[in-house]
Amino acid sequence: MGEQEQYDKLFETLDLLCEGETDRIALMATIVCELHSTFERFDWVGFYRNVGGGVLKIGPYQGAHGCLTIDFSRGICGRCAREKTVQNIPDVTAEPDHIACSAATKSELVIPIMDGDGELIAVLDIDSNSPAAFDQTDQDNLQRIGKYFQIS
Ligand code: SME
Repeated sequence: MGEQEQYDKLFETLDLLCEGETDRIALMATIVCELHSTFERFDWVGFYRNVGGGVLKIGPYQGAHGCLTIDFSRGICGRCAREKTVQNIPDVTAEPDHIACSAATKSELVIPIMDGDGELIAVLDIDSNSPAAFDQTDQDNLQRIGKYFQIS
């Protein structure tokens, strides 16, 4: 199955699972479960939640334990939260800002997740043990995850 086909199937599943759900943690838990089990190269998948005061706290995730708290001033996740832009890092060793939760991580993709008012709810962090694991197809599709949080 091609990459786009995998994503289309994933979103069909998520649409069914998440329909009518408004609880953010329930949504996050379901999304990380589906992402982690769909793509073998996604070795760690999790949300860091914006808890205010420039602080991200770990949310639902799959993979080995991650940092519990990340300040907006630190890490690739912090940069994503500050700038509200996608961070696609093909080689984490070339990034002085990168916080290494696992020595096995080679590349990382972080997506900002906003609510209906454009306020940052969380960042979706995906780590791979393969270098340059993420392409434009990943970026484009993973940004669609935000739609589940456009809840009024
Ligand atoms: N690498 C991230 C920290 C989170 S862990 O990878 C799970 C960062 O640099 O922000």
